[in-house]
Amino acid sequence: MTTTVKIKDKLFELLVPAEEISAAVDAIASRINADYASKEPLFLCILNGSFMFAADLLRRIRVPCRVSFVKYASYAGTKSTQYIKNLVGLNEDVEAKDVIIVEDIVDTGLTMSHLLTELSEKKPATVRIAAFCFKKEAFQATFTIDYLGMEIPNAFVIGYGMDYEGYGRNLAEIYQISDNQYPTSNTSTC
Ligand code: IMP
Repeated sequence: MTTTVKIKDKLFELLVPAEEISAAVDAIASRINADYASKEPLFLCILNGSFMFAADLLRRIRVPCRVSFVKYASYAGTKSTQYIKNLVGLNEDVEAKDVIIVEDIVDTGLTMSHLLTELSEKKPATVRIAAFCFKKEAFQATFTIDYLGMEIPNAFVIGYGMDYEGYGRNLAEIYQISDNQYPTSNTSTC
């Protein structure tokens, strides 16, 4: 298996294999299917990063549901800019709806806080959060993640929807930026 990936000037090492990701998505889907058994949730997925988690999760959802998208950007290279750009806003009617936000990763929490504020003005019945990764050490917000895939170290990651300068989103595994920036024999270029 490839354990190291090179994207542009950076090396990344395997952090979470695909099987572990799949098991974590199974667990989240089972909990949502049970919790929303008599409801019709609206899944609100945050683009671009959540597209892979959203596709995997939604294929496992067995209750009637709708799916919509918002698009924000807060990262430049490997750093959060601390500034949220609204690329595709919240156009969906969420009033009195049971909303589940789907996010690839909660880092500082600023993106999610931004969406939670926008949502609260539109009076949904309930709002819950499904996030695949959580960098607890970087977290600066106060909301709770209701359905979490896994906590990860406070380091830049790619794969499973997450990118470095637009690359790496297609990887089925999650990779963490390497301290050692020299390629090895099992390095693939992405
Ligand atoms: P936050 O606003 O700091 O919580 O960051 C949320 C957004 O930043 C996520 O939706 C990702 O798009 C991006 N992001 C945060 N951490 C990473 C990372 O380690 N790799 C790639 N993207 C990240």
